[in-house]
Amino acid sequence: MTEQPADPRRRTWVAIACGAGAVGTVAAAVPFVATFQPSERARAAGAPVEVDVGALKPGEKITVEWRGRPVWIVRRTPEQLASLSKHDAQLADPKSQRNPDELTPEYARNEYRSRKPELFVAVGICSHLGCSPVDRFQPGPQPSLPDDWQGGFLCPCHGSTFDMAGRVYQNKPAPTNLEVPPYTYLSDTRLLIGEDKA
Ligand code: FES
Repeated sequence: MTEQPADPRRRTWVAIACGAGAVGTVAAAVPFVATFQPSERARAAGAPVEVDVGALKPGEKITVEWRGRPVWIVRRTPEQLASLSKHDAQLADPKSQRNPDELTPEYARNEYRSRKPELFVAVGICSHLGCSPVDRFQPGPQPSLPDDWQGGFLCPCHGSTFDMAGRVYQNKPAPTNLEVPPYTYLSDTRLLIGEDKA
């Protein structure tokens, strides 16, 4: 039986990674973007985080911190979006039906797992034991990935793989897709992470 974390929301993502080296690498590769600075007390209580995504180019990702967890924002390319319909048969939960109330807000229960197709927003914590997966956006054969890799994320700890919508592949340790946090658009270029007003 696949091991289930007791409560992934309560874990500190940097505390459960694959060693200090891995943490340092991740931190250097995906610096937090702080476009909005709630007070420390408000941040600890889970205040929403406002993010300007206007400069985010297709194929790029930024990471912000919300409730002590990394939240990824990826502007997917047309090719990455097209890839999402090609590998449902290889996914463990292609329709995001597992724990939908916890992992996939209603507005993200679609092929893209997002409010708008191009922007993917997800908590960057593996649903196995809490490591932070790394980007493997380039399709094709490469170490630790299958030859028909379509692009996505690789968890270096135990090899779980996720597609460009954070959906986990079959027969991997991670039991569920990556969590989509509550978020909303304040404008075409500004997101509010942590609130999901209509
Ligand atoms: S933490 Fe084990 S595969 Fe991600």
